[in-house]
Amino acid sequence: MAGQSTKIRLWKFVKITCLSLTGLLIVLLLVAAIRTFSLDVNVGLNLANWEKTKTIAPDISHKQRELLLANFKAAIRIPTVSFSETDLNTTALAEFNLLLERAFPIVFSSDLVKHEVVADYSHLFWVPGTDPTLMPYMLLAHIDVVPAAESDGWEAPPFSAAEIDGFIYGRGTIDNKQSLMGILQGLEYLLERDYRPRRGFYIALGHDEEVNGNAGAANMAKVLRSRGVQLAFVLDEGLAVLDGIISGLDGPAALIGISEKGMANVKLSVTTAPGHSSMPPRQTSIGILAAAVTRLEDSPMPRLFGSGPERGTFEHLAHKFGLPLRFIMSNIWLFSPLLGRVMERKPDTNAFVRTTTAVTMFNSGVKINIIAPYAEAFVNLRIHSAQTLQEVLDLIRSTVSDERVKVELVNGFDPLPVSAYDEAAFGFQIIKKTVLDMFPQVTVAPGVCVGNTDSRHYADLTRDLYRFAPTWFKPGDPQRFHGLNERISVKNYEELVTFYFLLFQNCDITKLPEPHGSDHELKQTVGCPSFRL
Ligand SMILES: *[C@@H]1O[C@H](CO)[C@@H](O)[C@H](O)[C@H]1NC(C)=O
Ligand SMILES: [Zn+2]
Repeated sequence: MAGQSTKIRLWKFVKITCLSLTGLLIVLLLVAAIRTFSLDVNVGLNLANWEKTKTIAPDISHKQRELLLANFKAAIRIPTVSFSETDLNTTALAEFNLLLERAFPIVFSSDLVKHEVVADYSHLFWVPGTDPTLMPYMLLAHIDVVPAAESDGWEAPPFSAAEIDGFIYGRGTIDNKQSLMGILQGLEYLLERDYRPRRGFYIALGHDEEVNGNAGAANMAKVLRSRGVQLAFVLDEGLAVLDGIISGLDGPAALIGISEKGMANVKLSVTTAPGHSSMPPRQTSIGILAAAVTRLEDSPMPRLFGSGPERGTFEHLAHKFGLPLRFIMSNIWLFSPLLGRVMERKPDTNAFVRTTTAVTMFNSGVKINIIAPYAEAFVNLRIHSAQTLQEVLDLIRSTVSDERVKVELVNGFDPLPVSAYDEAAFGFQIIKKTVLDMFPQVTVAPGVCVGNTDSRHYADLTRDLYRFAPTWFKPGDPQRFHGLNERISVKNYEELVTFYFLLFQNCDITKLPEPHGSDHELKQTVGCPSFRL
């Protein structure tokens, strides 16, 4: 009897559980479906209520276009290469100092602009606003470039600035002389037209970004810190306009970097007694270290896709995907484990899923018949936003799990804090508006940089660091970054000049409108022809 009633009770329990699970599933799917068709985060500019300011239109004459191009090419031709932190081409950097003065005579002679050279080759500009109650902002770019050799297979020599089919080829054309020259050229044209900013701003041009920025950006940050400067936001290089790069996305996307992955350089080493190779021990330093390195490669860091700000990227872009991708992107909260598994298959998307582990150096051995007494390997890790440097080190130690292998941190830092990208985020919305003023067809979304920029040196001067320039990347272009045939189209460089020309002026509103906007207002008011080149 007792057995019978237990069975009935069990059956009832199963039935209720099934019903509530089905109910839960229906609710989940319903929420997911609602999000799919309502999640349209590309709103919030509320242009109808945007503060009206007088805008100087960037009508650039034919002669000016020739000049801005000549200036840009001259900048590309100077090989401001950073080989290492202690090996910069200082001859080229000194030449670059002179070029800036020659190319931007008004910037360098205007009473409005305060200019100072920091650490010999970095340049800090301050342009005070007419309203000192408005918090200033800062634009960053860098002068130095990574090495390039023509013999690697460039279509034109990497410091020639040769123009082929409407593109200018050369090291630095997309990293980062396009921003650097674009910012100063935009300012030059504004000053030429008697522009007086309402909101003050700084421009900081570092000369050693490619080798950590410890001389340039770090010292400029120190100068600003000593003066008690606080910034509304900082805009540096980083992400770009991606056109045809994100598969399945309808139209181009401008990704504004709101964070950067962290970084760790870790040294693994093994020391054993030396000996003759005729009587080897069972395991050598090389074997022990190789096994440790293999364990690291075999056990990647945990999948964290969806727990960092990459979630915001997908939610902002979701409405530009067709079904079923739109359904999935709108519901990262539900699908992140699935998406993480798909994305980890390719190295470029895997970088967004986890902390990546790259074994980059392995040194050992002195002679062919001597047991190597010492072996060392270096591992470069890029830390996902949802992890800390300490957590990563702990994981490495537990994966290596061999007390004969010494694990040391050479240098590293935590992922950068996530900057605001909501409707009240001044810098983000100003950058977004400037992008849409020029390119109304683009979807603007927050993104995460997998590499690092100079901006981290200024992290204590502002809450919001953004990393973006309106450089257009089409398929194949991301590989040109630090790679072969780095290039930019003449049209795109002119657009950069216009972008900064407009950005300076867009920053002159005192505050953002109250958030209530919709996309419709936006589509009707942007795309004014005078805002194009
Ligand atoms: C450094 O720059 C100078 C001047 O621009 C150039 O002539 C020289 O070849 C460069 N040196 C190296 C090693 O690239
Ligand atoms: Zn760069």
